[in-house]
Amino acid sequence: MSSPETENDSEDGAARSPWAEVVALTGLFRERVWAGPFMVALGLGAALADTLGVGLAVMLLFALLGQTQRIAEGGGILARIHQAIESVVGSDVSTVAAVFFVFILLSAMLVYAYQVMTAVMMNHVAQRMRDLVHHQYVTLSYRYLQPREQGLLLHILATETWTVSDAFYHLARVGVNVCAVLVFGAGLFFLSWIVGITAFACAIAVFALLRMLSVPVRRLGRETLAANQVLAERMLVSLHGMRTLRVFAQETYLLRVFGAASSRVRRLAIRAEWIKALIGPLGEVGSLGALIVIALVAGRSGVDVPTTIAAVLLLFRLQPHLREIETSRLALAGMNASLRSVRETLIGEKPLAVEGSKTFAGMAEALRFEGVTFSHDPRRRPSLDAVSFTIRKGETTLLAGPSGSGKTTILNLILRLYDPDGGRITVDGIDFHEYTRASWLSSVAIAGQDIELIEGTLAQNLKIGARDADMAALRHVCDLVEILDDIEALPDGFDTRIGPAGQNFSGGQRQRIGLARALLRAPDFLILDEAMSAIEPDREMRIRERIAEVMRNGTILVVSHRADAAVFADRTIAIAQGRIVDSAGA
Ligand SMILES: Nc1ncnc2c1ncn2[C@@H]1O[C@H](COP(=O)(O)OP(=O)(O)OP(=O)(O)O)[C@@H](O)[C@H]1O
Ligand SMILES: [Mg+2]
Repeated sequence: MSSPETENDSEDGAARSPWAEVVALTGLFRERVWAGPFMVALGLGAALADTLGVGLAVMLLFALLGQTQRIAEGGGILARIHQAIESVVGSDVSTVAAVFFVFILLSAMLVYAYQVMTAVMMNHVAQRMRDLVHHQYVTLSYRYLQPREQGLLLHILATETWTVSDAFYHLARVGVNVCAVLVFGAGLFFLSWIVGITAFACAIAVFALLRMLSVPVRRLGRETLAANQVLAERMLVSLHGMRTLRVFAQETYLLRVFGAASSRVRRLAIRAEWIKALIGPLGEVGSLGALIVIALVAGRSGVDVPTTIAAVLLLFRLQPHLREIETSRLALAGMNASLRSVRETLIGEKPLAVEGSKTFAGMAEALRFEGVTFSHDPRRRPSLDAVSFTIRKGETTLLAGPSGSGKTTILNLILRLYDPDGGRITVDGIDFHEYTRASWLSSVAIAGQDIELIEGTLAQNLKIGARDADMAALRHVCDLVEILDDIEALPDGFDTRIGPAGQNFSGGQRQRIGLARALLRAPDFLILDEAMSAIEPDREMRIRERIAEVMRNGTILVVSHRADAAVFADRTIAIAQGRIVDSAGA
């Protein structure tokens, strides 16, 4: 996440290594620890099967041609396998060929199983990560999430969760390759300890050489994450701002800034690939040097020629594994920043929405703000400064004040999107944070400013108010707010898609749909935040009367700039610059 502290953090030297990041993330899979060793074992089996594959095919050929004695002449592990087979099934050529064929099939199946399991595991990891990140976005305190960059949030959820699955893949590959190197390395030591030690020293030197590559790759990884964040932001702007930017004829600007963000991501990715591609040639040169050194050392120390040749052949087998270790190491270095952002999203203390334990059963008297202070940003003056007022049950209260005075902030506190920095909010004398959010909010409904319609159908939008409502209930509330006829005139009726931010409907229609959604909840406490500003006065009057009728035992809070709104209210709370200026009777 892009809080100021973490940005500073990423620049200081204390940043964690990619290994530490990926190991920290494995902590999220504690109940599936077996998967790591399992994948390493399967990968090692597949690697060995792959290595043996060609030899087995040659032996099958020899067997088919009836030349099995040639296999024995060749010596080595294949000859031993052949010997073992003959001792079990006898020396009948077609039986031996059949056994080789079965072996080839088995090793192909092992390779296949490894590939399938890799895909299965990677998809499981990606899904788990996606679900966990999404869970955070849904459950962390709204106030904590609200100021975060949407582009980064989207990028982490959509893309970086896959990076984690890639990182786990590389971690398992390192496991497989380290095991393979140990197997072949042991073979080397077995052949000649002098050759073994020389090869070991050379491998360390080549690794040290390649290590230099990971510094720029890590830096590029950080820059790529930042570039991807910008690109995701540009995507959001182009999608959400489609209408606004077009009506201001900003297409050229949009294309330019999107193109710039997009090409920056490409440039950084290519730069990283340039460096990563160096592993091949550098490794090649390094191992050539190592071979020369080994040949010289072997010659000087009197190791015989067949042993030296066998050692060199083993080294050739070993080399791709060493190179893949380096590839994985470099890939992980490039993912460092991404892994860090996922880790920071998932692991560590984060503010959750404040949750109570009591079940709210209904308001008997009043909701009270008692000296409530709230500040969005400590550097600015508080949005609410020791605000006190009362909203009485069964009444209609008007909250009036100029733009920016703190009305929506008050509503966000009532809706428990925010929690007060100071003072308390009580219902019938009890701090309402003692109640569970769900039980408190089940008695509240809001329509108006900032409570938009969301992507989906009309019916889905209405049912946000009451998930179990049936069609009759839907039609009833729509009729109350005079939107039913509009809906029934549509070819798809309640199944009409409402479009991004409800744009398939007019402003006044959207407001009426919002009102219907709030009424469908059958709330005890209804909040109307400029909820009818786009509806013509006659219709507004009729709707107001019907709402007053269905809410006759309930409580209504109306937010408005309009002075005439006071006519409908029992009381008025006037607010200016975050302070109560007049709370007549409240
Ligand atoms: N997310 C936020 N981050 C920082 N400051 C905010 C945020 N939301 C609101 N503010 C500030 O808090 C103050 C009160 O804002 P609020 O939205 O409550 O005003 P309002 O009375 O609802 O205004 P309007 O009538 O225009 O809707 C304003 O100064 C505003 O700039
Ligand atoms: Mg507002």
